[in-house]
Amino acid sequence: MLNWIESRTGFVSMAKDFLTEDIPGGASYWYVFGSATMFAMIMQIVTGIFLTFFYAPSAATAWESTRAIYLNPFTHFLLSIHYWGASAMIALVFLHLLQVLIWGAYKSPREIQWIVGVLLLIVTLVLGLTGYLLPWDMDAYFASQVSLNIAGLPPGGAILQSIAQGGGTMGTNTINRFFGLHVWLMPAALVALVGAHLAIFRHNGPAGPVADEPRTLKPGRFWPDQMFMDAFVSLLVFLIIVALAFFAPPFLDAKADPTNSQFIPYPAWYFLFLFGLLNLVPIFLGNGPFPELLAAIIVPTIGILIVFALPWIDRATTRSFSARKGIIGTTAVVIAVIVALSFYAQNTIQAKIAAGPPSQTEAQILAAAPAEAAPAAGGASDALADGQKIFSQNCSSCHGATGMGQAGVAPPLAGNSMVTGDPKAVVTVLLNGLHGKVIMGQSYAAQMPAWKGQLSNKDIADVITYIRGGLGSNKASAVSVSDIH
Ligand code: HEC
Repeated sequence: MLNWIESRTGFVSMAKDFLTEDIPGGASYWYVFGSATMFAMIMQIVTGIFLTFFYAPSAATAWESTRAIYLNPFTHFLLSIHYWGASAMIALVFLHLLQVLIWGAYKSPREIQWIVGVLLLIVTLVLGLTGYLLPWDMDAYFASQVSLNIAGLPPGGAILQSIAQGGGTMGTNTINRFFGLHVWLMPAALVALVGAHLAIFRHNGPAGPVADEPRTLKPGRFWPDQMFMDAFVSLLVFLIIVALAFFAPPFLDAKADPTNSQFIPYPAWYFLFLFGLLNLVPIFLGNGPFPELLAAIIVPTIGILIVFALPWIDRATTRSFSARKGIIGTTAVVIAVIVALSFYAQNTIQAKIAAGPPSQTEAQILAAAPAEAAPAAGGASDALADGQKIFSQNCSSCHGATGMGQAGVAPPLAGNSMVTGDPKAVVTVLLNGLHGKVIMGQSYAAQMPAWKGQLSNKDIADVITYIRGGLGSNKASAVSVSDIH
C-alpha cells in the first residue's frame, strides 16, 4: 500500500526525509515557537472560515450579524476562539522572532528566511487590524478611524486613506475593504509566505543552539522527540485558547454611532505601544502635523526597517552572545520601552474612559433590538425608511443623527428652508457637493461630498425624501428617481 502510494506520489520518502531531519544538538523545547505559531494560524483559518458563514459585511448588517453570533452559544464560542487565537498567534509570532533574534539565527545563510519572517509578522498585524473593524461596534469604528486617519497623514496619504476607506467617510465600503483584506488577501499572503518560510527552512536546516564549534554538536532527529515537543506545546496553546475563550469571551459594544464624539476607543493590546507613542510625542514636541507624523509613521517605519536589516547590521562573525552584546542589549531596551509605552497607553485610556459617561453593559447592548427606522410622521413609506438608513450611514457623521448639524462642521438640515425648498436645488447639491457657501449665517470647515457615483440614484432620491420629510419638523414633498439628474 505504502509502496503503491510512494511510486505514484513520492509522498512516503518525502515524509521520511522530513521526519528524519537532523536537529543539531538534539530536540529542544526552544524550537517549538515556529510550529506553535503555525498551529495557531491553522486554528485561525478554520475558525475564520466558519465565521464567514454567519457574518454579513455591510454597515447595515455587520453589527447585527455579530450580535446574532453572540446570541448563539456555539457561534459565540467559535468567535471567542478566533478572538483569543488572534492574540495567541501574534504573541507566538513575536516570541518566535524574539528567539531567532536573541540566538542570532538570522545570520547568513538565513537572511531571506528572516525577511520572510518579518513580513509574516506584518501580515499578522494587518490581520489583527482589519479584523478589529469587522464587528462594527463603537470600539471597532473609532479605533479603526484612528488607524485610517494615520494612513492619511503622510503627503499623498489622503489617496491611500480614501482607498482603504472606500470613499470620504467610513461605511459599508470600509467594511468591505477590510473584510476582503482580512478573509482573502492577507490569509493568501500568509499561506504563501509560510510556504516560502518553510521551504527555505528545509533548505537551510535548523540553526541549532549557539555554540562555538557547531560541528561538534551531536545531531538528534526530528522524529519522535521534536515532533512530540511540538505537538505537546501546540496542545497546550490550544487548551489555553479554549480556556480563555470559555472564561473571558470578547465584549460586543453598542453599534457604531459616528455621531458620538464622546467615545474613547481602545486598541488591541498589540497596538497599545503605538497608541502610547502617539499620545506621548505631542507632549514633548507640541501638537501639529509633524509630531503626529513622527509618532505614527516615521518612528514605526524606521523601527521595522531596522528589524529587516538586522542580518546586515549585526556584524559579529559568530552567533555567540558575548560577540553580540550590542544587539542583545538594544533588544532588551526596545522591549522595555514597548512594554512601558503599552502601560502608559493603557493608563491614559483607562483614565479617559473612567472620566467619560458610564457605558452600557453587554447584556443591555445585546438585549436592545438593533436601531430600526423610526416610523416617520405622515405614514412611513419605504422611501422614508430607506432614506433614514442611508442618512445614518452616510450623512449623520457630519449633519448629526437628527439633522441638527454640527457648529462649524456642517449645517443643520432640519428646519433648513433650503432643504425643504426647491427640490431641484437639493438634488444638485447632493449630486455635485458643495463648498464655501455661507449657510444660515455660518461657513463650515467640512466639505459636502459629491454623491454622484457614490450612491445609486434611488438612494439619493430616498435620502432627499427623508431629509425633506423626516428630519425635525420638515414636511416637504418626496423626490423620485426620475428627478435625479
Ligand atoms: C463630510 C461631511 C458631510 C457629509 C458626509 C455630508 N454633508 Fe451635506 N454638507 C456638508 C457641509 C460642510 C455642507 C455646507 C457646505 C458649505 O457650504 O461649505 C453641507 C451641505 C449640505 C446641504 C445644503 C444645505 C444648504 O442649506 O445649502 C444639503 C442638502 C446636504 N448637505 C445634504 C447632505 C446629505 C443628504 C448627505 C448624505 C447623503 C450629506 N449632506 C453628507 C458636509 C457633509
